[in-house]
Amino acid sequence: MKLLILGFVAILFIGCQQDPSLSNKTEESNIDQQVEELLAEMTLEEKIGQLNQYSGFMDFTGPQPNKGRTAKKLEHIKNGKVGAMLNVHGVDNVRAVQKMAVKESRLGIPLLFGFDVVHGYKTISPIPIAEAASWDLEAMRRSAEIAAEEASASGINWTFAPMVDISRDARWGRVMEGAGEDPYLGSQIAKARVKGFQGEDLSKTNTIAATAKHFAAYGFAEAGREYNTVDIGTSTLYNVVLPPFKAAVDADVKSIMNAFNVLNGIPATGDKFLLRDILKDKWNFDGFVVSDWDSVGEMVAHGFAEDGREAAKQAAIAGSDMDMESYHFVEELQSLVEDGEVDEELINDAARRILRVKYELGLFEDPYKYCSEEREKETLYNPKFRADVLDIAKKSIVLLKNQNDILPVKTSGQNIAVIGALADDKTSPLGSWRIGADDESAISVLEGIEKYDQNKYTYSKGADVVTGETQFTRELKVNTTDKSGFNDAISIAKSADVVIMVLGEHGLQSGEARSRTRLDLPGVQQELLEEVYEVNQNIVLVLQNGRPLALPWADEHIPGIVEAWQLGTESGNAIAEVLFGDYNPSGKLPMTFPRHVGQVPIYYNKKSTGRPELPSPGEVFWSHYTDEQNSSLYPFGFGLSYTSFSFKHLIIENNHSDDGTVSVSVEVSNTGKRKGKTTVQLYLQDEFASVTRPVKELKVFEQVELDPGESREIKFQLRDKDLGFYNNSGEFVVEKGSFKVYVGEDSHADLSGEFQL
Ligand code: BGC
Repeated sequence: MKLLILGFVAILFIGCQQDPSLSNKTEESNIDQQVEELLAEMTLEEKIGQLNQYSGFMDFTGPQPNKGRTAKKLEHIKNGKVGAMLNVHGVDNVRAVQKMAVKESRLGIPLLFGFDVVHGYKTISPIPIAEAASWDLEAMRRSAEIAAEEASASGINWTFAPMVDISRDARWGRVMEGAGEDPYLGSQIAKARVKGFQGEDLSKTNTIAATAKHFAAYGFAEAGREYNTVDIGTSTLYNVVLPPFKAAVDADVKSIMNAFNVLNGIPATGDKFLLRDILKDKWNFDGFVVSDWDSVGEMVAHGFAEDGREAAKQAAIAGSDMDMESYHFVEELQSLVEDGEVDEELINDAARRILRVKYELGLFEDPYKYCSEEREKETLYNPKFRADVLDIAKKSIVLLKNQNDILPVKTSGQNIAVIGALADDKTSPLGSWRIGADDESAISVLEGIEKYDQNKYTYSKGADVVTGETQFTRELKVNTTDKSGFNDAISIAKSADVVIMVLGEHGLQSGEARSRTRLDLPGVQQELLEEVYEVNQNIVLVLQNGRPLALPWADEHIPGIVEAWQLGTESGNAIAEVLFGDYNPSGKLPMTFPRHVGQVPIYYNKKSTGRPELPSPGEVFWSHYTDEQNSSLYPFGFGLSYTSFSFKHLIIENNHSDDGTVSVSVEVSNTGKRKGKTTVQLYLQDEFASVTRPVKELKVFEQVELDPGESREIKFQLRDKDLGFYNNSGEFVVEKGSFKVYVGEDSHADLSGEFQL
């Protein structure tokens, strides 16, 4: 039979070659036909096999499975009981495992090889939240394209990215992996990343299938604690959580991953409302749904399914198509179908979706198409990628404070003290979720700044951020006691013209299962900062972190603050260019930075309360805290430049009743002395609606680069898709009434106007 199929595939392949003008539609229907013919040949057991995904034997990205399973996994691959692997990468490994499936299973159906290629494979881009701060969609598309190019050269054909979970909670470690708090920005970024990974043509050898994850609402884990319950209202679900997923589906993303959480009492993996009613029926998603690591099995611990059999049944009925690492599909589905508890049509549908992606990738034409040693050798770490990851790294940096123009630092004649363990770290800047990358492969801050060799540098670590081993799968130990390096740091600071302190979180202090209750500088770093400040106040604080931090003391005392996240391979070079002024910072925060962790969840697109304002001094009955301000430390969309911009002449033309558009124009001027780039942001408020709307919502943005003294008119057009919202039945409605428009450089934008619909 295997020969028959291969022969059949070969005939089709020749057929395709003979007619290069085949339209996409014809290709699609050819693929559908091939899938149907293959399905007709498959036994129930083989179809279920396609629905089964195992982790390989190299990396673990979840709780380690029982060791005894390995032999069974191999046997299952050979018996056609596996449709995909994850965590098998490298041409040699992929080829060997693919060979087992292709040569030894009855039908020789090739496997998918999935991997978390989240922000690069070997050459690492900034962590996703950092990239989101660039607001540069083309740079983010390119970053995903590079990741796909390297990963595909190493045998991988499917990535578990982009993570499109909106989150308003900086305690949650996985905010590093997303695009922040805003559904509009998040949707634009979701599209850009899907396009970057998948390209225009999935059958090319340098593009890979993408996964939008985690469906849905994982970013709303209660109290920011990983894997915790989610309980949100329908308005938030429809207007905040779902839009980036919808954008990814519209961009033709090939797979969607379930979330670990329970949403309103139902585990997302077993949620028919999410998976069938919304994703597959309403949105017509035609790719496949993969579970998260054992999320099928975890429905038992959630108290939803009594045992693995019931979990498999609930997941399959709900619309989960592939089971990652729980074994329940492969062990239970056959008898569930035979006993009449699961309709075989559901299995056919799931297998069909998975097979279609395999055809689209071109795996049936050549199962080893991603397995060229030569290509792998020339692609991994190819220097040609570095300029682009440096470009996005620079664009991701956000200047938070620049009192008395302490920045940029002079490029010569300065005696500079560099303090902080992170300054000398070549691994931490790679960030979390970069499992393909090699430790020590990032440019450290020290290496970056020492290239500006007309200054004199002295370095002192001051204190470690974490101690002991730093591994992706292990808990990290924070240094809360060892201050033995303080004296040395203080002594070099005393005689310096400028002190550059590189503080923050280790790259593995954010990411999966890295929730925190504090948003401070971990360990003894705040003390170090304050003690150095005692002897020299001329400090530039370079922050490296995977989430918003709450640093009110630093904001009050430290003159220069640069948010440098974890910027990947080119980290130190990007930071140095910003510190010394070769790059004028342009990043804008994609997530609100609070004053205090107790304000979390804090986000700009909040609803008004019934008592939003202080009625008169001393009054107590209004919506506030008694011990902290309501406002953020740095708002969403915020970021300074070495120049300054002004906004004027806001003009609104309301042609909605004629052609359905409202045009908004504004004049932006560079009022400073340097060339610079800003992001013009337009926010809208639908003042009165049948379901209350946020006080401000980002609707559109545009980046503009201006010379000193230059002005430009920026024009936006708002249409129904920007003016409406989802009501509590999930219908998109545009309601008449008054709207406020705000335009500016961040979510505090106060140049405003109004129009009526
Ligand atoms: C994560 C997913 C990831 C998967 C496979 C899970 O623990 O939640 O995002 O893709 O592991 O590594």
